[in-house]
Amino acid sequence: MADRKRVLSGMRPTGRLHLGNLHGALENWIRLQDQYECFYFVADWHALTTDYASPGNIGENSREMVLDWLSAGLDPRRSTIFVQSQIKEHAELYLLLAMITPLAWLERNPTYKEQQQQLEHKDLGTYGFLGYPVLQAADIIIYRANGVPVGKDQLPHIELTREIARRFNYLYKSEIFPEPDGLLTEAPVLPGLDGRKMSKSYGNCIFITDSGKDIAEKISRMMTDPQRVRRNDPGNPEVCPVFAYHKLYSSASEIEEIAHGCRSAGIGCVECKKILIRNVAARLAPVRERRAKFESDPDGLRDIIAAGNARAAREASATMELVRRAIGI
Ligand code: TRP
Ligand code: SF4
Repeated sequence: MADRKRVLSGMRPTGRLHLGNLHGALENWIRLQDQYECFYFVADWHALTTDYASPGNIGENSREMVLDWLSAGLDPRRSTIFVQSQIKEHAELYLLLAMITPLAWLERNPTYKEQQQQLEHKDLGTYGFLGYPVLQAADIIIYRANGVPVGKDQLPHIELTREIARRFNYLYKSEIFPEPDGLLTEAPVLPGLDGRKMSKSYGNCIFITDSGKDIAEKISRMMTDPQRVRRNDPGNPEVCPVFAYHKLYSSASEIEEIAHGCRSAGIGCVECKKILIRNVAARLAPVRERRAKFESDPDGLRDIIAAGNARAAREASATMELVRRAIGI
């Protein structure tokens, strides 16, 4: 359908995805496939903006991540799935956009200072790190995307993208680039096993392709309401990470029973976790099955990525034709 609006988003290649990634972004990406023409890519160059000194295995992590995307339900027949570094036009547009982007726009970007402080063990006083949002803008507007599904933390980058697109159109009297909208993903932050935000660096993750045994073992040692020490102490489900999962994985009647049972000490944590283990395992079983299928067919995976890259390259090079003509280069 030619008149469908276009959505684009990217993820850094972090390797295997966890439930925070699934509920925070991926489920939304999957849902958008019904309504939009979708482009989803591995932001492997972006990984280097913070990890240039120890890139690890970006290629392998990218492959793992795409496997998880497909396992969770991204459909290569409906979505263009590709790898940023394979589409060299991103770099060309990044260079041209760098020429027109005022330094002050980058210096005042709130995530710039924030991340430098958060990752103070890394030297992020680099040109590439400051220019990160320009690369992100190139990623987005080279596909003339209308919408970009992202979390709240990325909204300043989308705003900057709009400003850069507008400035390009103004300077070169063109109408090449639409100004994309951020499509905010309203997802509650999913707690990890220890109650902090789920994150690989905290080692508190449930991965979307964990086995039934892993799921049972992890949920069994998950933190509960710390005030509920003994079985007959009443608990408060609203402060309990286990209950946050029930809200996502259990039926309305189970949720109600558990909330009531917890408050009245009618249900113990072990029993409560058993119900959750069953529901999480059931929900993730098909993801794991699809993963096994894709893993057994490495050529198939390679073909999917190659086809996505080819489709993305066609789109990106068509845009660059227009861009060069507008600039007169
Ligand atoms: N900056 C994003 C992140 O860290 C990843 C990203 C790179 C991206 N380019 C993008 C997201 C383009 C959306 C659109 O999560
Ligand atoms: Fe948490 Fe369930 Fe225990 Fe209540 S009964 S504290 S919700 S694990």
